Amino acid sequence: MQPIYRFKQTETIKMNCQKVVISQQLEEELTSAIAACEHDRTFILADETTARKCVPLVSDYNCLHGAQLITIGATDTHKTLDSLVHVWEALGEGKATRHSLLINIGGGMVTDLGGFAASTFKRGINYINIPTTLLAMVDASVGGKTGINFKGLKNEIGVFSNANTVILATQFLKTLDTENILSGYAEMLKHGLISSDRMWAELLNFDVEQPDFTQLQRMVAESVGVKQQIVTEDPTEQGIRKALNLGHTAGHAFESLALRRQPVLHGYAVAWGLVCELYLSSLKAGFPTDKMHQTIGFIKEHYGKMDITCDDYPQLLELMTHDKKNVAGVINFTLLGDIGNILINQTATKNEILEALDFYREC
Ligand SMILES: NC(=O)c1ccc[n+]([C@@H]2O[C@H](COP(=O)([O-])OP(=O)(O)OC[C@H]3O[C@@H](n4cnc5c(N)ncnc54)[C@H](O)[C@@H]3O)[C@@H](O)[C@H]2O)c1
Ligand SMILES: [Zn+2]
Repeated sequence: MQPIYRFKQTETIKMNCQKVVISQQLEEELTSAIAACEHDRTFILADETTARKCVPLVSDYNCLHGAQLITIGATDTHKTLDSLVHVWEALGEGKATRHSLLINIGGGMVTDLGGFAASTFKRGINYINIPTTLLAMVDASVGGKTGINFKGLKNEIGVFSNANTVILATQFLKTLDTENILSGYAEMLKHGLISSDRMWAELLNFDVEQPDFTQLQRMVAESVGVKQQIVTEDPTEQGIRKALNLGHTAGHAFESLALRRQPVLHGYAVAWGLVCELYLSSLKAGFPTDKMHQTIGFIKEHYGKMDITCDDYPQLLELMTHDKKNVAGVINFTLLGDIGNILINQTATKNEILEALDFYREC
């Protein structure tokens, strides 16, 4: 029998020592998060964009009085050793000690790199994440994975290390472009699919391109709750954390293929990956076809499609075979028997994968 995991929502929103706060009064919450960390000096890490668009929303808070701003280049191309060295140097020059505090204000690039910088500086200082992209709110800033890209490999160097507190405040999203909103929304869709019909239906009915930020704040809270619950059960991805890989086996292949042509945002590739993996789910695990078609309709409307032909199949298969999640060259998928009914460690034959790619092109 294949392992089937049925997602059950719980009330908890605290994992290990990482507290996730759904913000209502950002200044108060940040003040208490800072007070909860014993500290001498405070540093803020931002990228060039979040330094302009997000840091000003908090810079006059009393709790940040005297905080020193460290800025790195924006986007994933700067999640590098050079940027990391720059952060370590700036901490050193700013006289940071083992008792200093780093506050990461930015998307997943800043929270990944900042978390790693904090976890390694003087063997580890406290840090707080204030994610400012939807992707970072529902995914990157929680769960303790930190790191940088190295030698052309994504997230090659890093450690598991939790932020002391993560504060989710959707007011930052008002300056974020629609493509980046959609990118994060694909992970929310994934969280809906692995958890409940209700969450999934709300996601499909929400106007993501003209978001109501109050409703979005609640949906973000629920969505991050899904990730937290799974990560709490399996922090190091031995089992059920693989549920979070839904859409990512095919998704990473699309993302890597796009890198050779016209790079796409991660969430777009995940959305396209979901199309293939829902098809495999219906083929191999009986995922209901009506729910598959509804989800795919939403994805097609908002994410469009990456233009692929059968000439791309060998490359896509090759990329899936070399995905780092695989063991012994067998392509590993997370599939669904229904919404919230998760099957990890699934495999598919080459022909089934080709069929899924045909379906993706034709749907
Ligand atoms: N640690 C994890 O578990 C995990 C999970 C998923 C992704 N990630 C990592 O996250 C990164 C991607 O995160 P991302 O999508 O947030 O990308 P990002 O951090 O590069 O942000 C995308 C762009 O949006 C800008 N931006 C951020 N907040 C803004 C705001 N409020 N208004 C206007 N512009 C804003 C940034 O400056 C950047 O140009 C990747 O490095 C990926 O590897 C990590
Ligand atoms: Zn992802």
